[in-house]
Amino acid sequence: EAFVSDTLKRAAGERAAALVTDGMKLGLGSGSTAAHFVAALGERVREGLQVVGVPTSEATREQAEREGIPLTTLDETPELDLTIDGADEIDEDLRLIKGGGGAHLREKIVASASRRMIVIADGSKRVQTLGRFPLPIEVVPFGLRATEIAITKLVESLGLEGELRLRKAADGSTYVTDGGHYILDAHLGRIDKPNVLASTLNNIPGVVEHGLFIGLATGAILATGEGLVELGQ
Ligand code: A5P
Repeated sequence: EAFVSDTLKRAAGERAAALVTDGMKLGLGSGSTAAHFVAALGERVREGLQVVGVPTSEATREQAEREGIPLTTLDETPELDLTIDGADEIDEDLRLIKGGGGAHLREKIVASASRRMIVIADGSKRVQTLGRFPLPIEVVPFGLRATEIAITKLVESLGLEGELRLRKAADGSTYVTDGGHYILDAHLGRIDKPNVLASTLNNIPGVVEHGLFIGLATGAILATGEGLVELGQ
C-alpha cells in the first residue's frame, strides 16, 4: 500500500516537473510528494533547464541544494510564476488542507506570492468535504492555553465539534515549526464551511496561520491507479 501510494506520488511529481518551462520562478513545496517533484526538477535542471526556486521548508531547501536547483528568496523574488506543492486533502473547489508536515506557514506565503499553484497528490487525497484530516493551526508558544480556548470557542460558535491536540515530535517533545511556533491539530471530522472557518481563525491573536488554503490552488494533478487526473491549470 505504501509502495503503491509512493509510485502515485512520484507520477504526480514527475508530471508537474514536465510542466516547468525555461525562466520560471518557482515555489518548491514540502512533503513526500513535493520531494518527488523536486527530484524530477533537479534532473531537468542538470539537463539545462533554467529556473529559480523558493523552498517552503528547510527540508526542501536542503533537498533542492543537493539537486543543484538554483535558489532564491521571496525577498529577492517576491513574485513567482508557479508553485508546486502537495496537500493533505483537496476538495472539488480546489480548497485544501495542508500542514500535515508542519510547513503550511511558509507554503501559504509562497503560494500567495505565486500566479499559479498546482497541487500534486495521489488520488486518495481528494475529498467531498474537508476535515477528516486534522486541520493544523500554527500558534505562537506565548499564551498557548488562552489561544487554545479562543480557538475552541470559535469552533463551537461555528457549530463544529472536535478536539485540539498539541502536536508532538517523534521523541515526545512539543513539535516546533521552522518558524519557532507550535501546532494545534483540530480534529473536526468535517468542515462544512471552510471559507468561514479560514477567515475567522486568522482573527484570533496567537494564531499565526492555519492549513486551510482557499482560492490559492489553480490546478491539481492527482495520480490514481487508472492514471493522472488533471484539474484546472
Ligand atoms: C507540509 O506541511 C504539507 O502541507 C504537505 O504538503 C502535505 O502534508 C502533503 O504531504 P505528503 O505529500 O507527504 O502527503
